[in-house]
Amino acid sequence: MTLAETNLAATSKTLPDFNALFREPPQPGVSITVRDLIKDFGAKRVLDRLDLHVPAGQFLAIVGRSGCGKSTLLRLIAGLDEKNGGRVSFGERATTKASDIARVMFQEPRLLPWARVLANVEVGLGGAGRAAPDGRTRAQEALQSVGLGDRAGDWPSILSGGQKQRVALARALVSRPRLLAFDEPLGALDALTRIEMQQLLESVWLRERFTALLVTHDVAEAVALADRIVVIENGAVALDIPVDLPRPRRRGAAEVATLEERILDHLLRKTTSGAGDT
Ligand SMILES: Nc1ncnc2c1ncn2[C@@H]1O[C@H](COP(=O)(O)OP(=O)(O)OP(=O)(O)O)[C@@H](O)[C@H]1O
Ligand SMILES: [Mg+2]
Repeated sequence: MTLAETNLAATSKTLPDFNALFREPPQPGVSITVRDLIKDFGAKRVLDRLDLHVPAGQFLAIVGRSGCGKSTLLRLIAGLDEKNGGRVSFGERATTKASDIARVMFQEPRLLPWARVLANVEVGLGGAGRAAPDGRTRAQEALQSVGLGDRAGDWPSILSGGQKQRVALARALVSRPRLLAFDEPLGALDALTRIEMQQLLESVWLRERFTALLVTHDVAEAVALADRIVVIENGAVALDIPVDLPRPRRRGAAEVATLEERILDHLLRKTTSGAGDT
């Protein structure tokens, strides 16, 4: 058996137990409407009247050059930062708050080192959720759904990078968010773990059907996972491409490669024509 085959065999043994987490009916995703969004940092305008509508349940990938404002957009949608103008709304009700429906996963797992794995997942339930009688069970189920049901009592420090990210995913999933935003969640992982995590993200999304926003540098990752890819440039959406390819998508398939090339060409053309990020 080659190293790659050994790793893949190991992967299949740790496949998540979805039956555990998904006993309850899935919460539908929520639509997102962004209008005329403006964000300034000092004199610098990072988002400049950005418009974007994301239908409920869509898996949207956001790509663009470093510094173009991807994380800024994600943070504004998730309610983690204040905008300077414009509007972000969810679903039909203008009063829906991001903090009630959205969770974010970052490149760093941001686990509490003094709390065991299960307690770290419970953090995602919030105060009221943790106090609920089924809080602990739900956290255990979320952990099981990411293939780490047997690591509940471990300290985060003894987990691998990929396992820590799985815990972070369980923490994000445990409250059953209607919107899950990912900011380069797999950026620090090795290539094989990254592919494994991409498969996990896709299967979790297919089951739960939350609306997914994925910021990524990796165009191949965007094409592998997203229903639609937007490229951010000069503070707005410069390219908006639907990805109508069947799932699971096969790496190296002709249509996948063509789409990757089209997006990369766009990004690289901007680089060579001198458009910068400052
Ligand atoms: N808190 C902040 N204070 C000042 N400037 C900021 C702040 N956050 C972001 N910026 C600036 O806003 C611009 C967009 O940053 P942002 O982090 O959104 O980019 P990004 O597209 O996510 O880049 P990367 O791909 O490198 O993560 C950058 O020029 C950055 O320096
Ligand atoms: Mg960023």
